[in-house]
Formats: sequence, C-alpha cells, structure tokens
Amino acid sequence: MPNRVVLAYSGGLDTSVAVRWMIQELDVEVIAVACDLGQGGDWEAVQERALRAGAIDAVVVDCREEFARDFVGPALKANALYENRYPLVSALSRPVIVKHLVAVARQQGADAVAHGCTGKGNDQVRFEVATRALAPDLEVVAPVRNWGMTRADSIEYATRYDIPIKVTKEQPYSIDDNLWGRAIECGEMEDPWARPPEGVWSLTTVRTGESREITVGFEQGVPVALDGRPLALWQLVTELNEIVGGYGWGRLDMVENRRVGIKSRETYEAPAALALIMAHIDLESICLERDLFHEKQRLEGRYADLVYDGFWFSPLKQALDAFVDESQRYVTGEVRLRLEPGRCYVIGRRSDWSLYDYGLATYEAEDTFNHVDSEGFVKLWGLGVQTWAARQSQRDATVQQGGHAG
Ligand code: ARG
Repeated sequence: MPNRVVLAYSGGLDTSVAVRWMIQELDVEVIAVACDLGQGGDWEAVQERALRAGAIDAVVVDCREEFARDFVGPALKANALYENRYPLVSALSRPVIVKHLVAVARQQGADAVAHGCTGKGNDQVRFEVATRALAPDLEVVAPVRNWGMTRADSIEYATRYDIPIKVTKEQPYSIDDNLWGRAIECGEMEDPWARPPEGVWSLTTVRTGESREITVGFEQGVPVALDGRPLALWQLVTELNEIVGGYGWGRLDMVENRRVGIKSRETYEAPAALALIMAHIDLESICLERDLFHEKQRLEGRYADLVYDGFWFSPLKQALDAFVDESQRYVTGEVRLRLEPGRCYVIGRRSDWSLYDYGLATYEAEDTFNHVDSEGFVKLWGLGVQTWAARQSQRDATVQQGGHAG
C-alpha cells in the first residue's frame, strides 16, 4: 500500500472528492498537481480547494509552453488525426500531465500517482501506460474507477467534508479542455442521432460576419508566425482558436472507437488544431517529394493510433517521430487561409523549398517539360498490361464466347 500519492487534480468534483476519499480509505498523504494546459480557470481557487479537501500540498504547473512545443508540435508534424478526424486533444494532454506527476512524486518522495478517470474511458489507459513508461516503480491509484459513488453521492461526500465545490445546476456533460481543443461528451449526445444542443459549443460560435484572410508561417513543419508575427506555438494556437473559432468553424461530431471497446458519440471543438493540420498538409503538398509524402500519410494513422492508445512514450512512437522529423526538414513556408462564417480553407501556399516547378507545370509558352520523354515512358508504363491483353485477356474473351483458346 502506498503512503504518499500524487494526484492529477483538475479542481472538479471527482478529483476533489478523490483527495479526501484516498485519505480516509487508503490512509495516504495526498499531493495535488494541477496542470495549466490552456483550459483557463482560477488556479488559486483550484489550489485552495485541494488544500481544503485535505491535500498536504497543491501544486499548479503552467504547462502551456511545454505542452505545445513537445506534444502538440510533434502531433501536428505527423498530422495526427484519430480515425482521420479527431486531433487527439485529450490524448496529447495525458502524457504531459504524467510527466509532471512523476516529477513531483520524485521531488516529494511519493510512491504512487493517482488519477480521477472512470473505467470506461481512454484517459485511464493513457495515465497508466505513460506512468509505467516513465516510472515503472510507481503504483497507480484510480479511486474513481472503483468507489462506486454516483454523482449525487460525490456531492454529498463533498458537502460532508466541507470541500468547496461549485456545483452549478445539473451539468450533464463531461468536458475536457486544453489549448489544442475541447471535448464534450454525455448528456443528450449519448443518442448518436440527436443533434448536439447549441449550448455545448463555446469556442466555435460565429462572432463576426466579415470574411478575412490569415497567413500561417511554418518552419520545419512547426507553425512559427501568424500574419508575419513570430509567436511561440502555444500563443499562436491560442490566438488561432479565437480567430478561427469566431467563424464558427472547427467542430467535430463523431462516433469514435475507444480503446476499451466502446463506441462512443463524441463532439469536439478544435478550430486551431484543424486549421493548422489542414494548412500543414497543404504546405507538405509542395515541399515533400511524392514517395515521401505518400509513405508519411500511410504512417500518420498509425501515429495517431499510438497516441490515442496511450503509447506516447513508446519505442515505436519514438521511431516514428524520428521519421516525421526527417520528413519535415524542408517543410518551411507559408499557407494562406480564408475565413468566412462557417468556413475555413486554404487559398494559397508558398515555400523557398517548394518542389512546384512552374516551367514543368505550365501549359503556357514558358513550358520546359520535355514532351518527347513521355512517349517512351508511357509505353513502358503500360507494357505489362499490353502484353497481358494480347495473350491472356484475349483468351478469356474467347473462352467466354464459347470458342477455343489458342
Ligand atoms: N474521447 C476523447 C479521447 O479519448 C476525449 C476524452 C475526453 N475526456 C474526458 N475526460 N471527458 O481522447
């Protein structure tokens, strides 16, 4: 049994109750660690709540820059979209949280980490697999998974122990937020046919009628500037959420395959993530040679699966990062996006390393393409099929007509 536990603390009902519950039921000391990943919130109040719940220490870590640089950046370079759609908002945040849980555990001599995930989701998988990868010796405690309390029980528990929880009116949604986007589940949306209520959206609401163009500058696959202004990635993403979200663009509504075997209806808002991935793919279209581009696209789905499944810290993911980084050496340039209410799309791209060759592409007089080369090339390209047609396909046709094959 552990003595001192470092808990991933959100400040919400479940993790607040978990602090007290672990003290009561497991007889441990609890250290709460809250990570600022750009979700916003009153961190002083969060810290205060953890202490009121009984934590011996409550640490708030500003992870925004690290999260963007070391987690979002690599995922963006890999165009990581789970099931071709979901930009891994929550999946990317768990490994950075675990990194800090483990660091605090080492500093403060803890022998376990804890999380507030239920047994039905992916996040428990990510917390625990990442913990094993970084600190195989630490125990993992998952109070919420086993305590069997309903939401009402938890509220009663918080009241009994005088934990200051702001339980507003029954909020049926489970929301997870960070600078890469926002996941909203549960409530009415558990019926996959039911339209998500307007109230679930907060980042993506039309706040302007005026269309606009923006330019995103990339360096080796990473966004570094907005309209020519250099910005750290976390700032760029934060600004872009505001800008693109203001056009009501960046929503997802999907039924997703969780790692634990459940199909789940999920809604997301990720205006910056989706706009940046779209822009990045577009820049790759001029900077990457064809075979590299195609092979990379083949690996991107695998990369997204690994991140989704909790293998951020794993040998295959590491090796894929090396491949992706190598592929990004010349992915430097700019992409122009146009924003209109409800729409966001690419209208231009350029790069000093562009492989787009006007002379080769043009149908105008400047054409430098050697047309004569094509004749032999196309003949050889089709030679195998031609040979087959002359012999075997002719025979098939004869057989079908009831004739004799020669
Ligand atoms: N389904 C998404 C994922 O697995 C979002 C999870 C959101 N987490 C939450 N605790 N509400 O990545």
